[in-house]
Amino acid sequence: MSRLRVAVLASGNGSNLRALHGASLEEEARFAIALVIGNNSGSGALAYAREAGIPAAHMSGRTHPDPEELDEAMRATLVAHDTALVVTAGYMKKLGPRVREEFGGRIINIHPALLPRHGGQGMYGKAVHEAVLAAGDAVSGPTVHFVTEEYDMGAVIARSEVPVLPDDTVDSLAERVLAAEHLLLPAVVQIIATRDPAADR
Ligand code: GRF
Repeated sequence: MSRLRVAVLASGNGSNLRALHGASLEEEARFAIALVIGNNSGSGALAYAREAGIPAAHMSGRTHPDPEELDEAMRATLVAHDTALVVTAGYMKKLGPRVREEFGGRIINIHPALLPRHGGQGMYGKAVHEAVLAAGDAVSGPTVHFVTEEYDMGAVIARSEVPVLPDDTVDSLAERVLAAEHLLLPAVVQIIATRDPAADR
């Protein structure tokens, strides 16, 4: 049985990458991490990929100053690794039109709030959890959704709820949501892989 080939795009710590990779090593996994692309050469995500022996590429405005060339280089690298699904997990850059066209409907993102609440431009990192606390929401949690041209606007695939506690700080809420991300993202990728004919090639 072949496995759905997943490319992970990440800029930061890479804890979702680690969760996905760990899940991909389980016997019942229907997906494999084929490639990691990071725009930040010093990121934990790229360091983890290299340590774990996953093909890893640093691609950014530094390696490719022309945005169109960067877009094309990313598209070509994803294709060269036979990518069937692109997962952005803490990837801080917008994808270019060539990548979006090549992988239309096959790019998903994880966001640390219950979309459509608390999404859009500028809504990342602590700002998201600050907004949840400021709004007095009783629940929060991650959303996995399709990537479109607009930030956080693609169709929702799955969400997972965690409580917001009365004494929560941004950090305590962020930690609870991140723990839920590490369960939700591998579960969603496994479901996509199980239903995807590309996994049976
Ligand atoms: C996660 O909270 C994810 O929802 C958001 O960026 C963060 C990435 O964390 N898009 P990590 O790099 O996977 O640890």
